Amino acid sequence: MFNTTGWNRRRYTLYAPIYDAVAERAFRRARRASLAQVHWRPGMRVLLVGAGTGLDLPFLPRDIELHATDLSPAMVRRLERRAEALGRDLEAEEMDAARLTYPDGHFDVVVMHLILAVMPDPARGLAEAHRVLAPEGQLCVMDKFQADDRPAGLARRALNALTSAIATDITRQARPLLEAGGFVIEQDTPVMMGALFRALLARPA
Ligand SMILES: C[S@@+](CC[C@H](N)C(=O)[O-])C[C@H]1O[C@@H](n2cnc3c(N)ncnc32)[C@H](O)[C@@H]1O
Repeated sequence: MFNTTGWNRRRYTLYAPIYDAVAERAFRRARRASLAQVHWRPGMRVLLVGAGTGLDLPFLPRDIELHATDLSPAMVRRLERRAEALGRDLEAEEMDAARLTYPDGHFDVVVMHLILAVMPDPARGLAEAHRVLAPEGQLCVMDKFQADDRPAGLARRALNALTSAIATDITRQARPLLEAGGFVIEQDTPVMMGALFRALLARPA
């Protein structure tokens, strides 16, 4: 499988200049629906993991403390520019989702949009999200997933060899991943292309 963190850093650095043209309109409704599932309160400390160019920013409340990370420096630069253009305070850092440098229990909300299907080891990303979330915190996930009740078939697994190298894994199952990561799923909503893309809200068990 040609999906490593080093490769993802390189390819997302290449994709950064065209990312908005591909992803802004396509995912607008899905990301808005996903973020609407969060129970927002003023002053919450929020972390966007693998934030990309910051396409979530317009759909986030203003009265929160916002932090964001991405593996690719080119993405982080665009994220900072978007925050500035929107007049938002944002602490952005280049960081691997598998090794967050924040303390335990630091965030009220962790948002993982379109990253669990990209990371080579999503369980590791979820373990870090779990660690940095407060005990009553909320995990907000939106991504493409294989149905929970049946593993990917042979054809899908074969196609995945290509899609996971250039775009995204298409064989991951949300519920097994999140539950094994110590989360309880509170909401699970199909948001795009039938039930291929789902928005999940979960809390540490
Ligand atoms: C498909 S894009 C999603 C970006 C954004 N979350 C969105 O919803 O538009 C995946 C992003 O994850 C970042 N990424 C990939 N692997 C990562 C990792 N291990 N740690 C942090 N970011 C990562 C990429 O650089 C890219 O910006």
